[in-house]
Amino acid sequence: MSERETFGSKMGAILAAAGSAVGLGNVWRFPIETGQNGGAAYIIIYIGCIILMGFPVMISEFIVGKFSHSNTAGAFQKLAPGTQWKWVGRIGVFTGFLIICYYAIVAGWTMEYTFLSIANQFDGKSVNDYAPMFNELSANPWKSVLWTTLAFLVTFYVIARGVQKGIEKYSKILMPTLFIITVILVVCSVNLPGAGAGIDFLVRPDFSKINGKVVLSALGQAFYSLSLGMGCLITYASYFNDSTNIRKTALNVCFIDTFIAVMAGFIIFPAVFDAGYSLQPEDIGPSLIFITLPNVFQQSFASAPFLGYLFAVLFYLLLFVAAVTSMLSLHEVVTAYLHDEFNINRKKAATLVTVVCIILGAVCSLSFGVLKDFHIFGLTLFDLFDTTSSNILLPISGLLTSIFVGWYLDKRIEHESWNMKPLSKRIIRFTIRYLVPLFIIAIFLNQFDLL
Ligand code: PHE
Repeated sequence: MSERETFGSKMGAILAAAGSAVGLGNVWRFPIETGQNGGAAYIIIYIGCIILMGFPVMISEFIVGKFSHSNTAGAFQKLAPGTQWKWVGRIGVFTGFLIICYYAIVAGWTMEYTFLSIANQFDGKSVNDYAPMFNELSANPWKSVLWTTLAFLVTFYVIARGVQKGIEKYSKILMPTLFIITVILVVCSVNLPGAGAGIDFLVRPDFSKINGKVVLSALGQAFYSLSLGMGCLITYASYFNDSTNIRKTALNVCFIDTFIAVMAGFIIFPAVFDAGYSLQPEDIGPSLIFITLPNVFQQSFASAPFLGYLFAVLFYLLLFVAAVTSMLSLHEVVTAYLHDEFNINRKKAATLVTVVCIILGAVCSLSFGVLKDFHIFGLTLFDLFDTTSSNILLPISGLLTSIFVGWYLDKRIEHESWNMKPLSKRIIRFTIRYLVPLFIIAIFLNQFDLL
């Protein structure tokens, strides 16, 4: 077998992992959760969750990847030969497969909205036009299938080129682009005449809104946002070379992801307040991005239409870039699995994954139109994929990964290789062994209102 590829530079490794972490979750969930749960108070709790839980779990996933030099399923098999731990990796691969199918649908919409905004299609629309516009687009079977397929083809284009020439090269282009767009949008938004109230809302902590449920939901959001629990980071870490410092890489990724999430708040809230719009609880996810925000942008920039035009184009481009870099990591989990475990060459493995995902993703995308009345366990296909992967499989595989690293691997991997000071190592070990499993169980039960 040919030698396993590695990332060519430390920066490449950081940007690729940050690309996985920074995704739709940063833009369509984090700001709204912040808005509903006490503004800066929520941000403080969230940062606490990242430092205390997200960071240690990311380190453990990096350890599993870096020391096994193997895809997610193969990693558990290699580090725990002859045991059933391999199933944890397999669940991870399966979860990645489910997430990418529904994620691609949304990535497709962001692509479509980028084109719509470039074509100035929001011009002259009024508040009541946006919901029918989005509903018509998402219900149209041809458009849904076409955009979902296009999102997969873009991902395939990069993945088929390999680790250095594909994932690393494009992460090095796309992540700085994403960063620059974010900064431009923040500057435009905070300079709107009515932005002050939005900024005030984001920075003034209201601790009365914080309770156990809010903390658990912040923790769930932190895990999802850092792409933890299903092997994306294990797979990427398997491409780290020996000189990659696990702790520094994890620190950088946690920082970039949190920074972009907070900045998304500074893009959305000043504009929302400036437009005099009061956010409703249902303004989360697709309806926030594709119905509420185009209207908000249109109103906020009514006196400077060209700026409004640019703002909308850049905003949807930002979402598209964020979604695609996350899709790369999800696609890579499955592609690397087929490539390593079944000895299929990389291009063929990537093609196979893309074709199967396009078929499933396309069927799933019909959940908003022709298949909207087709329910399994009371859920449309899109919701089924989303719920099963994010609410059930992610916590289960995250829990098992932390037990694996904390209790099984702990005795078997030399602690020197962690590259950490003794005290930090002790804290991280304690967190992974006791706190993380406990909290993941709590998040899980909380989601189903069992806690
Ligand atoms: N972290 C991504 C986001 O914030 C989502 C994701 C989860 C991507 C798990 C890959 C794996 O949107």
